[in-house]
Amino acid sequence: MLNSEIRENKNPGAVPETEPERQYYFIRECRNIVKRKEEELGRPLTACCVTFGCQMNARDSEKLRGILEEIGYRNTDKEEADLVLYNTCTVRENANTKVYGRLGYLHSLKDKNPHMIIGLCGCMMQEQQVVDRLRKSFRFVDLIFGTHNVYKLAELLYHVFEDQGMVVDILQKTEQVVEELPTDRKYFFKSGVNIMYGCNNFCSYCIVPYVRGREHSRDPEEILCEIRSLVRDGVREVMLLGQNVNSYGKGLPEDKSCSFARLLEQIAQIEGLDRVRFMTSHPKDLSDDLIAVMAKYPNICRHLHLPLQSGSTEILKKMNRRYTKDSYLALVGRIREAMPDISLTTDIIVGFPGETEEDFQETMDVVRRVLFDSAFTFLYSRRSGTPAADMEQVPENVMKDRFDRLLALVQKTGREQTARFEGRTMDVLVEQVNEHDTSLVTGRLDNNTVVHFPGTADLIGQIVPVHLDVCQGFYYMGTRV
Ligand code: 5AD
Ligand code: SF4
Repeated sequence: MLNSEIRENKNPGAVPETEPERQYYFIRECRNIVKRKEEELGRPLTACCVTFGCQMNARDSEKLRGILEEIGYRNTDKEEADLVLYNTCTVRENANTKVYGRLGYLHSLKDKNPHMIIGLCGCMMQEQQVVDRLRKSFRFVDLIFGTHNVYKLAELLYHVFEDQGMVVDILQKTEQVVEELPTDRKYFFKSGVNIMYGCNNFCSYCIVPYVRGREHSRDPEEILCEIRSLVRDGVREVMLLGQNVNSYGKGLPEDKSCSFARLLEQIAQIEGLDRVRFMTSHPKDLSDDLIAVMAKYPNICRHLHLPLQSGSTEILKKMNRRYTKDSYLALVGRIREAMPDISLTTDIIVGFPGETEEDFQETMDVVRRVLFDSAFTFLYSRRSGTPAADMEQVPENVMKDRFDRLLALVQKTGREQTARFEGRTMDVLVEQVNEHDTSLVTGRLDNNTVVHFPGTADLIGQIVPVHLDVCQGFYYMGTRV
C-alpha cells in the first residue's frame, strides 16, 4: 500500500536520495522543528516508546529511541509525553486487543496536550484490517508504519510535523535495510544484534511470516563489524536475533556464503566478547555442527531456546513444524551429551486445532523427559489468514483446563531444574541495582538465570563470581566471592 497522504517535500532538490544520508537529513529537519517547539513551550519535549512482544521488537525500539533522541526528544517511560510510539506485536489476538484498549487512554491524554503525537508501528500494523480500523475509528492517531521501515522514523515524523493528516507508510516487504542510524541501547554492556529478518517457515498457526515477510540474512562481514564496534564501545554480551537463526545464510550470495555455525564461531572468536547468545532456534534446522561450535567456545552461553510447540507428532505435522516427538527428543539428547550443563527453554502452544487429550499427554510427556529450565506456555490464538484458522477449533474450556495442567508441570520441573546449580560459584553479569532492595544488585548467569546478591551500582556491567546460596523458584540469592 502506497501512502497517498504523503505530499512531496517543499524543497525536493535538497533531500538526499540515498540512505542513510536521507534519514540524517530528516533528523536535522525534525531537530529544528523540535527546537522551535521547545522555545515556544518553554520546556523540553519528551517521547515515550512502548514495546510489545519479542526481542526483535525490543531491538527495533532501541533504534526508534536512538532516532528520537537524535531529533532532540528526551526519552521517558511515562505516556504523558509529547510523542508516544507503540511498537506493537500481533502474534496472538490479545496483543491487538490490548493496543486498542490503551489507545483510548492515549486519546484522553491527547485531549489534555494538543501537541501530543501518537504513533503506532510494528507487526500489528502490517495487517490490512488493523490499518483500515485505525483509519476509520482512531483518527487521532498521527503516524502508522510497519516492520520494514523502522529506519524511516525521522522522515515520517517530518511529514507529521508538516501537518499532513494521518501519515501511513506500510511496505509489503523489506526493500532496504538501513543499519547505520543512531540507537539508544538500554544497557551499555549488552546489546541485541539482528542477523536476519523475516521467516519462511509458515507454521500453520503463525502470522509472523505474513507480517515480517520473507527470510533475509545480513552480510556476515557487516554483522562481525557491528559486534566488533559494540565490543570497542564496552559491550560484553550480544544476543543474536532472528526468527529462525538456524537457517541463517540461506540466500546469501555465493562469495559471502556462511552457515549459522560458522557465523557463531567467528563471533565467539572476537577478542573481548565475554558472552554470546542467540534466539530463536528452530529444532528442524539445528545442526550437529552448531552443537559442536557451542561446546567448543566457553563464551557461547550454555542456553538454548528451542520451541517445542507440541509433543504430539500428529499435531506437529498439522502445525507444519517438520520434526517429530522422537526427533526432538533425539536432538535434546545430542545437545545434552555435548553440553551436560546446558539450560533448555521452550515455547508450547496448548489447544491447537484438533488437539486431543492423547496429543496433550504427549506434550506433558516431553516436558517430563526434557526438563526445561523454563517454558513459555500459550493458549492457541486463532489468527485470520493462517491455515490453522480454518481448522476445527478446540473448545475454550478444554483448552484452559489443559493449559493449567501444563503450567503446573512446567513450573514444577522448571523450579527443580533451575535449582540444580545451588551451592556452586558461577559468573554473573551484573545488570542493575535491585528494584525492591537497593542493598542488592541483580544479574544473570550465562544460562540466563537471574541472581540477586549484596552489591553496589559500580558492579553494573561487570562479570563477577557469585556463590549461589539458595534457589528461590526461578532465581537465586547469592554472595559475591
Ligand atoms: N497462538 C498461540 N501462540 C502462538 N505463537 C505463535 N503463534 C501463535 C498463535 N497463533 C507462539 C509460539 C511461538 C511464540 C513466539 O509464540 O509458541 O514460538
Ligand atoms: Fe512463526 Fe514458525 Fe516462523 Fe517461528 S518459525 S516465526 S513460529 S512461522
